[in-house]
Amino acid sequence: MLLDSAGLSWSESWSRIRCLGLSSEFPEEEVVVPGLRVLVTGATGLLGRAVCREFQNNGWLVIGTGYKRARPRLLRCDLTDEDAVRGLLHEYKPDVIVHCAAERRPDVVERHTEAAVNLNVHATSTLAKEAAACGAFFLYISTDYVFDGRNPPYGEDDSPNPLNVYGRSKLEGERETLRHCPGAVVLRVPVLFGEVESVTESAVTSLWLKVQEATESCTLDHCQQRFPTDARDVAAVCRKLSERARQDPSIRGIFHFSAKEQMTKYEMAVAIAQAFNLPSNHLIPLTEQPAASALRPVNSRLNCSRLELLNLSVEPRPFTSAITDCLWPFTPDKRWRQTVFH
Ligand SMILES: NC(=O)c1ccc[n+]([C@@H]2O[C@H](COP(=O)([O-])OP(=O)(O)OC[C@H]3O[C@@H](n4cnc5c(N)ncnc54)[C@H](OP(=O)(O)O)[C@@H]3O)[C@@H](O)[C@H]2O)c1
Repeated sequence: MLLDSAGLSWSESWSRIRCLGLSSEFPEEEVVVPGLRVLVTGATGLLGRAVCREFQNNGWLVIGTGYKRARPRLLRCDLTDEDAVRGLLHEYKPDVIVHCAAERRPDVVERHTEAAVNLNVHATSTLAKEAAACGAFFLYISTDYVFDGRNPPYGEDDSPNPLNVYGRSKLEGERETLRHCPGAVVLRVPVLFGEVESVTESAVTSLWLKVQEATESCTLDHCQQRFPTDARDVAAVCRKLSERARQDPSIRGIFHFSAKEQMTKYEMAVAIAQAFNLPSNHLIPLTEQPAASALRPVNSRLNCSRLELLNLSVEPRPFTSAITDCLWPFTPDKRWRQTVFH
């Protein structure tokens, strides 16, 4: 029998989720009348948490799976274990699956390719097959790194040409998704940030550490163009896509979603420093590609018009206000307030 991280069976866990809401992180009073059921993989990760919250706040019954960070009321499931995935879907029978779990750090994927391919490709393949078998709508989260970045902007029909193993594994995951589950949607997104548990959880919030090192000069990439996107906006798009796709079977295939503000890491760091009224003159722009790590596209800007034309997009939050929201809990001021009042 499959057990969740609190030692409950899937059905016990589901009943409890129905009664209590997903977890203390997703407020119980937000649960509206039980509606459709969504299963979110990678619910312990940056995007998965935002997706759980978005669906739950809109009346969906949510069940989230994690792995090493699975906590009580989230289900622990190793998605690379085919039997566990089959058992999960058989027992839970979701209407929608939002598949966020992945190894998404390009340098880790280069070093631990077999494990990453098992998760990014083989687990995706199993989930897509099982989703098709149980009639669930399958939404696979992919990346702008499927493109080489030489000829932006990229539409959904443009030819992918990933530069690194991560991009190749995600592209392979897309192909497995559409091969086994032709009614599925692949949603490609660029670099994400959001409500992080630690600032190192996202490449964007990690810049906070550089901004704070004001005593030493610090070089930052000023070559690769990025479109930092708030995970909460992606989560809203996932919900809109899921709700529409259940009524309209023509909603299938590949979609792009991205924020519109183009910035290098250097520009993001300067914007963060300005938002918090901190010095930025220690930040030095670096205009050469870094040699050591996995190759990354210089500019893989996504054309998002397909989503927009179908009225399935959301207005992306402006970078400065969104990043301020996310980093505010890490300011010394906030820590001081917590120490005093709690
Ligand atoms: N973050 C970005 O900048 C970015 C950009 C473009 C696209 N994407 C895509 O967006 C999706 C979500 O990314 P994210 O940033 O939210 O990732 P993340 O924060 O790194 O979370 C990864 C998730 O995968 C789970 N996981 C890892 N190994 C697993 C296994 N063997 N079985 C089951 N679950 C496992 C993790 O669970 P535990 O932690 O509990 O082990 C975690 O919940 C991914 O598909 C990624 O490719 C992300």
